[in-house]
Amino acid sequence: MNKVENKTLTISYREYVSSAELPLAEKNLLEQAVAMADNAYAPYSKFNVGAAILMDSGETVTGANQENAAYPSGICAERSALYYAGAKYPDVPIRAIAVAAKQDGAQTEDPAYPCGACRQAIVQYEVKFGSKIKVIVGGAGKIQVFESISDLLPFVFDNI
Ligand code: THU
Repeated sequence: MNKVENKTLTISYREYVSSAELPLAEKNLLEQAVAMADNAYAPYSKFNVGAAILMDSGETVTGANQENAAYPSGICAERSALYYAGAKYPDVPIRAIAVAAKQDGAQTEDPAYPCGACRQAIVQYEVKFGSKIKVIVGGAGKIQVFESISDLLPFVFDNI
């Protein structure tokens, strides 16, 4: 008797070719992420990433990747913003995070997606507050909006 089940997981997301088409709040957040990429300290990778977080209070918290000669000591843009938000406003849920990257001063054509560690870190705040965190990833030629970080990290580790 065969007890194997083949299952399929579907992820839905919105895709835009221009940020001009985005709803205003998302467009504003992404613009802040793009601007923040200029604040990156990335002498090793020369890959500048900016992140902007929209809090439930309406306030925005921003971050940029910070690298270190001891490579693992650096931090991604997403987590620099996320941990600042968590530390400064421990009781305020996070509604959305936008991410953008620049190379040689120009925004990357394709979006830069949060790395695995950042996805896990974002999920943690979704779990903490019990409310979805929208993820907006923006490239110059393509913008994608995921309604929940769980769409980018299904089957998340949250067992403890
Ligand atoms: N980086 C981010 O800040 N966020 C991402 O989503 C991807 C990668 C940073 C880490 C490192 O400083 C540089 O980009 C190259 O990996």
